[in-house]
Amino acid sequence: MHLHFLSLSIPNKKLSHFLIIIFSLILTSILCYVVFSPFQPASLFNIGFLYQILPEKPRLRPCDYSYGKWIWDETLPDRRYTEKCPFLDPGFRCRESGRQDLGYQKWRWQPQACNLPRFDASDFLERSRNGRIVFAGDSIGRNQWESLICMLAQGVSNLSTVYEEHGNPITKHKGFLSIKFQEYNLTLEYYRVPYIVVIDRPPPNAPKQVRGVIRVDKLHWFSDKWIGADVLMFSAGHWWNQDKTLKSGHYFQEKEYVNMTMNVLEAFWRSLNTLKLWVMTNLESGKSHVFFRSYSPIHYSGGEWNKGGSCNMSREPETDYSKLGSEPPNNIMIHEVVEEMRSAMRTVNFLNITYLTEFRKDGHPSSNREAGTPAGAPEDCSHWCLPGVPDTWNELLYAELLRMEFRTKTATK
Ligand SMILES: *[C@@H]1O[C@H](CO)[C@@H](O)[C@H](O)[C@H]1NC(C)=O
Ligand SMILES: *[C@@H]1O[C@H](CO)[C@@H](O)[C@H](O)[C@H]1NC(C)=O
Ligand SMILES: *[C@@H]1O[C@H](CO)[C@@H](O)[C@H](O)[C@H]1NC(C)=O
Ligand SMILES: *[C@@H]1O[C@H](CO)[C@@H](O)[C@H](O)[C@H]1NC(C)=O
Ligand SMILES: *[C@@H]1O[C@H](CO)[C@@H](O)[C@H](O)[C@H]1NC(C)=O
Repeated sequence: MHLHFLSLSIPNKKLSHFLIIIFSLILTSILCYVVFSPFQPASLFNIGFLYQILPEKPRLRPCDYSYGKWIWDETLPDRRYTEKCPFLDPGFRCRESGRQDLGYQKWRWQPQACNLPRFDASDFLERSRNGRIVFAGDSIGRNQWESLICMLAQGVSNLSTVYEEHGNPITKHKGFLSIKFQEYNLTLEYYRVPYIVVIDRPPPNAPKQVRGVIRVDKLHWFSDKWIGADVLMFSAGHWWNQDKTLKSGHYFQEKEYVNMTMNVLEAFWRSLNTLKLWVMTNLESGKSHVFFRSYSPIHYSGGEWNKGGSCNMSREPETDYSKLGSEPPNNIMIHEVVEEMRSAMRTVNFLNITYLTEFRKDGHPSSNREAGTPAGAPEDCSHWCLPGVPDTWNELLYAELLRMEFRTKTATK
């Protein structure tokens, strides 16, 4: 086509011959380049210099750790901590409380498109030196916090150098606990804030049926203590339902007034935005690494938690994909707010553990609850046995921190 065009538009025959020769030379050299070039076959389509004017290859998306499957791994318990870890709440020590089947400790999460980096306690501790790691959420957050303490304690030779700063025992009865890793001058702190925002007594002007209020525009007063933390792990979910709010007389308050018509999801959305505003005003991008963990699924079958619901027959993860729950609406909201925060602050992330956790109906304490639990008490199909499922959440946390280059020492420093 082009040659034809050239010979037509250039009347001088000699010149056109000359051009044809030059052009053939160029074509031959391109051909030689393509055939003998050391690059992969894909470069055949790049045709040499043309390659440079084509748009750049899209950047590879980072691997999605949230999607994959559980794989049976006999060697897992040898690489993890055991129930002997002194920082475990009795409610999570399922073996000690009589659980016979221990298969729940042998499942390893395998993301579909890549491997999770090996959890390296010494590396994590070293990166966190002179730092603070804060967990703020409900008791499932404490579950994850205890898991991380035990995972990190594996990197410490003398366990006596790891202790609760105020001498408090690790139990569900405390609203605030702080574990010090003395050798690293690191604290791992837990704040019990089931709604993240403030729970309060009703204001004087409130209608009679209001027994308590959740103040969606006021972050919990513990939040003063979160400022300056290097890693923050927020979570919420199990208290944001009808039963624990409106049905038990806990309404939502904004400014000075109780809003009698605000529903739970709307209130959750507003509370997330209160958190967003707080994060953006109080935390420093690059210094604080902020995570919001997604919803941790519960597995009551045959009734709700207080209506005889049970999970004590579950010995292995769900294999029937049709039985997995759908995305909780809370997660979509959390994800959206996290994305908004991230556009203002680089080091914010959504820790999506819902799908992988959805499979693990076998991982709950179930009827193996702590000693002293009255006979006939409801089963626990919401918390997790430790070692167990939350260890995987923390492996994902570690992987994401590496990806954010959390306190990565560069060669020049
Ligand atoms: C969480 O991860 C699962 C599995 O990859 C995915 O299906 C789901 O959409 C994710 N949720 C959100 C809110 O991004
Ligand atoms: C320990 O860490 C805190 C920050 O969490 C820092 O202010 C303090 O100086 C550190 N102490 C030592 C001895 O390095
Ligand atoms: C372990 O740490 C404790 C508290 O700091 C100390 O008293 C003890 O001597 C240490 N033990 C060893 C074997 O280093
Ligand atoms: C109560 O909340 C709803 C949203 O759920 C809002 O539309 C309404 O304006 C609020 N009422 C008052 C008096 O602020
Ligand atoms: C499971 O719980 C049900 C109801 O509490 C009880 O009847 C049954 O014996 C339990 N099964 C096992 C294996 O623990």
